[in-house]
Amino acid sequence: MNTETPGGPKFMTLERHIIEGEREHEGATGSFSSLLHNLSLAAKLIWREVTKAGLVNILGKTDRMNISGDVIKKLDEFADQTIYKAMDHGGDLCVMASEENEDILQIPDDYPHGRYVLIYDPLDGSGNIDANVTIGTIFSVYARVTESGMGTIEDVLQPGHRQVAAGYLLFGSSMMFVYCTGHGVHGFTLDPSVGEFILSHENIRIPKRGSIYSVNEGNFDRWNPNTQRYIRWLKEEDQATGRPYSQRYIGSLVADVHRTMLYGGIYCYPGDTRNPNGKLRLMYENNPLAFIIENAGGAASDGRRRILDIKPTSLHQRVSLYIGSREDVRTAEEFLAGMR
Ligand code: AHG
Ligand code: MN
Ligand code: MN
Repeated sequence: MNTETPGGPKFMTLERHIIEGEREHEGATGSFSSLLHNLSLAAKLIWREVTKAGLVNILGKTDRMNISGDVIKKLDEFADQTIYKAMDHGGDLCVMASEENEDILQIPDDYPHGRYVLIYDPLDGSGNIDANVTIGTIFSVYARVTESGMGTIEDVLQPGHRQVAAGYLLFGSSMMFVYCTGHGVHGFTLDPSVGEFILSHENIRIPKRGSIYSVNEGNFDRWNPNTQRYIRWLKEEDQATGRPYSQRYIGSLVADVHRTMLYGGIYCYPGDTRNPNGKLRLMYENNPLAFIIENAGGAASDGRRRILDIKPTSLHQRVSLYIGSREDVRTAEEFLAGMR
């Protein structure tokens, strides 16, 4: 819970946290606060639909495929459109990009164009919707690099270290809004009775090493020998190094990484013979989560390089991911380099 004061617990709403954060920046215009505020509104609208998902006829597959070849579920579309519509007219953004759309998303001509760029995975883990398992939304904010007017692909394809903010929404047993502007990672839980996000996880820190690994081990035979050796090592008995690790895999990246950040350990999506660069997308998944985990004291790598240093080449590019406790990610890199 957040800070205790002599008068009792102090309630910090997301709204106030955002405004107080922006006040610390000289010359801030309020645009950044407005952007995050609009996102928190989209979050509540998506959550409302997610909680109704079993009741109304919104579940089930549409016959369209998204650009990465996955079947889009209706809730993905709802989340995609809700975020776009909540964000297009605020005057804070010059362009957006969503995992569900092949091209960048322009701000309509008749709305003002602002200085920020929003990149999002509208619904991560959507394969889990029908089973009532935790899913989420992942987002990333950059400052534009072009001068003015419509944003371009150049504004979107920036390396992750240039993010000015990143966060995710988690639709689980409760609804959370976790965000980071480079000054710690903070988690807010929605109190549905008043419709406010309340600070519940202040300045989250990930343990230096953990004892849980998270990976789709069904792909084991498709991995290269170094990756296989690393995962086998995690399962060996060795009390001195706290092995074997426990295995947890929800199959919603955002939920698996959230758990990893709270409990420590590592989440991996390695490249394999079918997908040499793994399955996860640099712009929509790896970069925002890497920014958050690094700010919580952890690390994120593609096995060789820091995720945040990768220069993106295309909107839907896939990159292998090893993310979590700093020491666990270092051990993974050593195995992948064939050093152990
Ligand atoms: P999305 O639902 O946005 O397409 O992402 C699915 C991703 C990610 O959430 C998850 O961790 C991963 O796919 C699971 O992949 P496998 O089924 O290959 O394990
Ligand atoms: Mn995803
Ligand atoms: Mn998605």
